Formats: sequence, structure tokens, C-alpha cells
Amino acid sequence: MDVEPLTPVIGAEIHGVELARLDDATFADVEAALLAHQVLFFRDQELDIDEHKALGARFGPLHVHPSAPPGAPGHPEILNVHADANTKRTAGDKWHSDVSCDVEPPMLSILHLHTLPESGGGDTLFSSMYAAYEALSGAMQSYLAGLTAIHDGGPNYRDRSRRVGFDDSDRVYPRAEHPVIRTHPRTGRKGIFVNSVFTTELCGVPKDEGDAILAFLYAHVAKPQFQCRFRWGENSVAMWDNRCVQHMAMWDYYPQTRSGLRVTVRGDRPV
Ligand code: SIN
Repeated sequence: MDVEPLTPVIGAEIHGVELARLDDATFADVEAALLAHQVLFFRDQELDIDEHKALGARFGPLHVHPSAPPGAPGHPEILNVHADANTKRTAGDKWHSDVSCDVEPPMLSILHLHTLPESGGGDTLFSSMYAAYEALSGAMQSYLAGLTAIHDGGPNYRDRSRRVGFDDSDRVYPRAEHPVIRTHPRTGRKGIFVNSVFTTELCGVPKDEGDAILAFLYAHVAKPQFQCRFRWGENSVAMWDNRCVQHMAMWDYYPQTRSGLRVTVRGDRPV
């Protein structure tokens, strides 16, 4: 297995690996590379639904999305990531960490794209929350250290339902309170854990102060020096660690089609 870093801060492309057939030693190497680089990219991977799920399950129990319709009949753990000429809003086109509104948000997402826009586009951008945290002043790090924030799935998921004409008025979406700065359970590194899709308020501070701090953090985490950007090919796979990475999918290819499937792995309560 060959690891080619995309930037010194985040991201690596992995060569010489067949994800559908990972032996234990190579799996351990992939996991170590993920912890080091936070997001990994693999090209030309043939991966059917069972192989995709089996790959995710090697990292931990699979997650079922609280709002999206199942992506494949009989496979509730499969999330359909699809946009075409009829799409009114794509999933993931703003900076976020997947389903951070869960009390135990997913640790890992594995996205396999099989159809790409003919004219290019549809890249995914990833930002290192370690690097974003480390770039803050000591004073700001100390201020944020004791704070928690509310992450609420309702506003995001209800907006999506409204745009696609789906009545979700009887649904209760997840809501959780998480530390603003979380410590990664495997690496011990600290990272920012608020995002513009799910975080609605800082707890224990006046609302205008909390809103200003969140606005600052949302702009901060989106700075290009913390990022890498992946240009997909047919059958590429991206695997990202939601505990220390935010991502956004670029919807610059309308009305063309971009399509694939995601498997997501359950995580721990952030500390
Ligand atoms: C997502 O999982 O948030 C979507 C990512 C993408 O479509 O690139």
C-alpha cells in the first residue's frame, strides 16, 4: 500500500489497495493512514452494496440515517447520494460533520461514487478541524474549552423535506449537546466540533455573543489552508473521519448527474 499525502495538513490518496478484499494487515494500515491523514481517497474500486457494508462494518456498527429514505431496498444502512436535473437541493453542500445532531454522531463515512458529471465538477472539499483548532489563539482556545453547543437536525432536515415536497411534520429529529472542542478518542488531538448545518446555539452565553462566536468559527473552519479538495473519478471512494473533519460537496454541475452510495459508521459521544 502506498500513501500519497494531498497536503501536509489533511488528505491522502491510497494506491495498491482493493477495498473489497482487505486482509487484516492492510486494514490496519488503512486505519492508521486514516488516523494520520483524516480523509483517504481510493480510485477504481469495484464495490457492491454487500462489500461496501462489510468494509464499513470492519470499523464498527453501521449507522442508519435519521431522515434520508433508504438508498437501496433492504439496506437501511445505505445512503443514496444523488443529484440530477430534478434535484432541488443536494445533500452536504455546506460545511458539516455528518449527522452531528446525533447524541453519538457517526465516526466515519465511506462514499463510493459510480456516476460523475460529464463536464467535471462535483468535487468534495474537506477541512481539518485539528488544523483549524491549532490555528486559533491561545485565548480563543481557552474561551472555547469549557463551552458546549446544541446540534439540532430539525432545521436542516425540515428544510430539505420542504424543498422536495415531503411531509415530515410528524417526525422528531435528533438533537444533542456537544462540546465545542472535542478530543479525538484515538489520536488525543483536539478539534473544533461545531458546524453550520447542525449547530444552532452556544450554551450558557448570551445569544448575540454565541451567534457571533459561531459565525467566526464557521468562517474559520472554511479557510483554504485547512483543506484538501478531491476530484472524483468513476468508482472512487472517499473515507472521512467525522470526529476531526468537516466536508462540503460542490454542486456546480447542475443539471448533470452525480450519483453514488454512502455507508456510515456509528461513533461515540463526543468529549
Ligand atoms: C455527504 O456525504 O455529505 C455528501 C458528500 C458528497 O456528495 O461528496
